[in-house]
Amino acid sequence: MADRHDIHDQRLLIIDFGAQYTQLIARRVREAGVYCEIHPFDVPQHFIREFAPRGVILSGGPESVTFGDTPRIPSVVFELGVPVLGICYGMQAMAEQLGGSVEASDVHEFGHAEIEIGETTELLATVRDGSSGHLPVWMSHGDRVVTPPPGFQVTASTPSAPVAAMEHREKRMYGVQFHPEVTHTQRGDEMLAHFALTLCRCDGLWTAANIVEDAIAHAREQVGEERVVLGLSGGVDSSVVAALLSRAIGDQLTCVFVDNGLLRKGEREEVERAFGPSNALALNLVTVPAADEFLGRLVGVVDPEAKRKVIGNTFIEVFDREAHKISGVSWLAQGTIYPDVIESAASKYGKAHVIKSHHNVGGLPERMHLKLVEPLRELFKDEVRNIGMHLGLPQELVYRHPFPGPGLGVRVLGEVTASRADVLREADAIYLEELRAADLYDAVSQAFAVLLPVKSVGVVGDARRYADVIALRAVETTDFMTARWARLPYEVIERVSNRIINEIPEVSRVVYDVSSKPPATIEWE
Ligand code: XMP
Repeated sequence: MADRHDIHDQRLLIIDFGAQYTQLIARRVREAGVYCEIHPFDVPQHFIREFAPRGVILSGGPESVTFGDTPRIPSVVFELGVPVLGICYGMQAMAEQLGGSVEASDVHEFGHAEIEIGETTELLATVRDGSSGHLPVWMSHGDRVVTPPPGFQVTASTPSAPVAAMEHREKRMYGVQFHPEVTHTQRGDEMLAHFALTLCRCDGLWTAANIVEDAIAHAREQVGEERVVLGLSGGVDSSVVAALLSRAIGDQLTCVFVDNGLLRKGEREEVERAFGPSNALALNLVTVPAADEFLGRLVGVVDPEAKRKVIGNTFIEVFDREAHKISGVSWLAQGTIYPDVIESAASKYGKAHVIKSHHNVGGLPERMHLKLVEPLRELFKDEVRNIGMHLGLPQELVYRHPFPGPGLGVRVLGEVTASRADVLREADAIYLEELRAADLYDAVSQAFAVLLPVKSVGVVGDARRYADVIALRAVETTDFMTARWARLPYEVIERVSNRIINEIPEVSRVVYDVSSKPPATIEWE
């Protein structure tokens, strides 16, 4: 591979000061075709030097540089001789450390603002064209730069932030008070692409085709001739790992799909269709029918966390047992993605991030004593989806809503039984079918039905029916940490409700969940 570029060679470093938007900066840079990594501000200086970035971006953050004990930019950043872009807190820290001044402003600017861009600017040159020097941007700050450091020139301003952007052309240092990474800033993506490609002189090698090629080469090198086992769940991440590894190592890979009896309608068939013997991927796919084992252990279990534990532990046991039937396996493949890696690094550095993570297969690597291969470790979810499409996976699979590991186990509220899971499976299938028919499936982030542990009275013909209640949930969210209930059209809800009550004799009533997160969670259990 001597003639191939390593697509990681041209890379940017993003230094994280704890802003909620830091991952967005990285995603915009990657979308521009440039590899980048996020590291916390207190990462060792020698790491930064060895990382040898072509440019550095300093993120925003919740603190104030007007206090002495708040995070600062590692000094090595200014010695690298590469372009540096400070965003919000990053710019304020830059101003403060290089001899300018920052003050706490009495006007807290949060939301839309319009900047006026000066005549000469390198950073904003591409977005100045055609914008008559005015550009709508997204601001979120309390402090502001009052005097830029020596040698810096002010390149944009707003009435409440006279230094909305600044730059030092010879030193190639740039700062913006607003957030180019959020979509509310017009042409912010262009601004970041211009920084990454032109100012930092990168070639745009980070493309789906190159990522796939690189991941395949890397997995081959890592695994060699040895055998790998993967728990395929039918979700996006494990499906992309399966497709990628099958390209890389062919039948050295065995995928194990556990049917725990808590899957959605048609899910097992879908997975078998996408990955089974008749498919071009030609994976070694082992389906383990284990519904009885899971449901047997769930008898009498009603507490949500207890159900999660039972389901998680049973999965580990079943998977471990199956993996041992495959001779000579020495690797376990996992669909860990970059946000998981960043979050565990952030907690390692003691950052106060509030993270909700669900480790469904937590414990599996420890128990199995296998080496780990994680080909998606450096990818964001949207990149995983892109390469999934590039690898030829079906669109419905690549763009499906997230589905919790415990499956219908946490959506049949209270005790889970086979017959109650069947009722929910039917209701959920009707709901999703109608959402797809109305072209709404992709418009919401997650939608599903829940079977409530209460009965309600209804009438069918002349007969009174005392039967189950189904709740419909649909949310819109970008990060699943907060979510808004989706404003589905009444006609769609009505159609779903009519169909569920008419087609499923066990159900007499359907309700729609109008709770946002927080304080409600997305799942009911
Ligand atoms: P909550 O209910 O916490 O859900 O607002 C946020 C997201 O996480 C999913 N979720 C889970 N995923 N195992 C998982 O793999 C779980 O135990 C679990 N619980 C919730 C939920 O579907 C939503 O996408």
